[in-house]
Amino acid sequence: MPEAKETMEKYNTEKSKALYAECCKYLVDGVSSSFHVAPCEEYPIAMVSGKGARMYDVDGNEYIDYIAGFGPTILGYAPDVMNEAVIDQLGRGVQFSAPTEQLCALSKKLTEIIPCAEIVSYQSSGTEANMHAWRVARAATGKMKIVKFEGQYHGWADEQKITIGADSTEQLGARDNISRLFTTAGQRQSTTDDIILAPWNDLDTLTKIVEEQKDEIAAILMEPYMCDEGPILGKEGYLEGVRELCTANNILLIFDEVITGFRLSLGGAQEYFGVTPDIGIFGKAIAGGIPLSMIAGKKEYMELVHPSGTFNASPISVAASLAVIGELEKPGTYERIDALGTKLANAFIECGKKNGIKTYANHHNAIVQFQFGIDRAPEDWRDVLDNVDADMYDKFYNLCRDYGVRITSMRGRIYLSAAHTEEDIDRTIEVFEHVFPMLKED
Ligand SMILES: Cc1ncc(COP(=O)(O)O)c(C=O)c1O
Repeated sequence: MPEAKETMEKYNTEKSKALYAECCKYLVDGVSSSFHVAPCEEYPIAMVSGKGARMYDVDGNEYIDYIAGFGPTILGYAPDVMNEAVIDQLGRGVQFSAPTEQLCALSKKLTEIIPCAEIVSYQSSGTEANMHAWRVARAATGKMKIVKFEGQYHGWADEQKITIGADSTEQLGARDNISRLFTTAGQRQSTTDDIILAPWNDLDTLTKIVEEQKDEIAAILMEPYMCDEGPILGKEGYLEGVRELCTANNILLIFDEVITGFRLSLGGAQEYFGVTPDIGIFGKAIAGGIPLSMIAGKKEYMELVHPSGTFNASPISVAASLAVIGELEKPGTYERIDALGTKLANAFIECGKKNGIKTYANHHNAIVQFQFGIDRAPEDWRDVLDNVDADMYDKFYNLCRDYGVRITSMRGRIYLSAAHTEEDIDRTIEVFEHVFPMLKED
């Protein structure tokens, strides 16, 4: 592994650039997911390896990483404990199409740590877990419509990819008549006929929708801490208010915890905020980077729909997930991560003040938020679109990358892991102090 670089020289990434040009010849977009290249970068950095919170690229540069494989690597890269569990399972077989003792142990554990989990079922990705959860809600209520919030992403399937991105508030239309924005060629728009769009964090508009259409609504589906286009916290009483609305109207409340699961706490946002949904959807961090997703809920309706699939809860994913939970359960883990988040968020705000740049930062355990252009928490997605300076964030993203800090390109949400150290945070702050003055240059 290359020696740590602690100077403040701009990185040379020519090999990454050349590799991307080569990849583009053989691979759609030159990457395997649109998440793997930021719209604001000329080319993605190609990686060779990672250990802990550090990553190493093809040019031999070292990075402190806050992308976490787009969320999953909650223990950092190549954690010994997870490697040992996975290697042990590799030696015994990767795929049995049969239950195992470990599968039973994991399922039991998940029902103990996740408040809404009476029973669980598995898929491999967050997209699939959402598809399954929506089906369970429809089976349980005999109703077909799902309320989905503008700006919230739940996967790439036809029915899911609606009004997840917008350039401006005008594009979104009125709060009570939100535009149906489709995002990909080939999408069957008719599959979204059963989706009702609503603005998140607006209980009055949601209540009106429910009053008018309660006999058709199977579920209200939400990211309980809106991470994908924010992050945005629920207003005081909002989650509780939606919970009551659902209970009163025979509507299931679904929390998509694909990002918040294991990041806010082991029991997800439902444990962190103390509001229990009818169904919880977990993915990403649940197996530390090996594909696994899971839905959890009450037996009476979970058992109405039988999960299908070849790779659901493969023995490798199960081994990894048990190792992840074992580590995260150790006393003090989340407190330690949270303290690092406090330091990082404070440093970001301090850099803004020193350089006369309006900034906002916040953090909740392993999720940290950085925003430019505002100095308060955003209220909803429309507030983000109207007031957050996305161009400055893009510039910051590229400057951090030039000096060895990888942050997500996604509107200011970055991830900590149990592998981050004080030293990682201190070095990151040095890089922030170096690049902030450059944000004001043309
Ligand atoms: C909140 C949320 N739900 C669902 C998904 C889809 O998960 P996957 O990419 O594993 O299909 C994502 C992915 O980023 C997500 O952020």
